Amino acid sequence: MVDLSTHRVDFCQSVRVRVLTLHRSPLTAGAWPEGVSVAAVERCLAVIEARDPLTLPADRGALAAAQVVSVACDLDGDVVGVAWRRATPEGAQVDVRVKPGLRRHGLGTQLLGEVAAGAAPLWAGCDAAHPRVRRFLLHQGFALAGVVFHQRWDGEPRDVPPAFASAHLETPSDLAMAVSLLRDASAGTWPRPAIGAVEAANGRARIAWHGDAPAGVLLAHRESDAWEVDGLAVLPAHRGSGVGRLLAADLMRFAAESGVGVTLRVAQDDDAGLSWSQKLGFWTYRTWAMYRR
Ligand SMILES: CC(C)(COP(=O)(O)OP(=O)(O)OC[C@H]1O[C@@H](n2cnc3c(N)ncnc32)[C@H](O)[C@@H]1OP(=O)(O)O)[C@@H](O)C(=O)NCCC(=O)NCCS
Repeated sequence: MVDLSTHRVDFCQSVRVRVLTLHRSPLTAGAWPEGVSVAAVERCLAVIEARDPLTLPADRGALAAAQVVSVACDLDGDVVGVAWRRATPEGAQVDVRVKPGLRRHGLGTQLLGEVAAGAAPLWAGCDAAHPRVRRFLLHQGFALAGVVFHQRWDGEPRDVPPAFASAHLETPSDLAMAVSLLRDASAGTWPRPAIGAVEAANGRARIAWHGDAPAGVLLAHRESDAWEVDGLAVLPAHRGSGVGRLLAADLMRFAAESGVGVTLRVAQDDDAGLSWSQKLGFWTYRTWAMYRR
């Protein structure tokens, strides 16, 4: 039976490849286009990640959950490029990756076209120091939406900065309450918190209470070498009283006790946020440009 959800484009421009695209449904979640081997996709991503240090390792969970995946295969069946699109709270996000030796042949354009079709607004990101990718995205009609500093802290428990006892912290029994508080407290901020099922599964949530009133919240999830802050926000009425610092220091202590760091994201033009995180000891390890079209 012909798989109607798979679209084939044979012999993409000047390189002899086939591009296979799968629009996943709930029934085909996690599936790949017919004939594509997951091991071959993995080999392709591993080559790109090894040869192109400015390209972040693909988030395998996001890839498995993507709504659309497109794979370029050469005539031997080796995967030479992969693109995917996933839903985000701000619309949809695409990621396109082509093996270094096969770039500048129109493959990236072809793969992006496959996964982007019909989606708006569409987001894509790259390291701000990656001029080729920046130029590619601009030529594909994206415009710079903002720049985010990825920051981290690695310290010993004794390096955790002191915090005022301006609130008391609790682990919420109801994660939905923490997510709803995060949405309220972070309204109008950018970058938006990254809230998702994956984060919840290996995550940590803490709520700061001022008396009987919730004042702030922190959601984070564990990566291999750090706790990544998905969202940290204090309700406007409680800002400026040390609640954010208390929440951050709590996670820093927890991370330091198990020998890992803490990472968080602050917008490049958020002077107050940057000064706050730098005083806690965070430093910028990556400058990430977000594009939108
Ligand atoms: C970004 C990326 C996917 C582009 O892939 P690509 O296959 O090189 O893309 P294309 O060939 O379609 O386009 C790249 C350039 O080659 C040019 N080009 C296309 N066909 C060409 C040809 N036959 N001869 C010469 N140049 C050509 C395009 O005009 C384009 O120029 P531009 O960047 O100035 O607009 C690739 O560089 C990559 O994998 N980067 C690392 C992954 C990454 O960071 N992805 C994030 C993006 S979401």
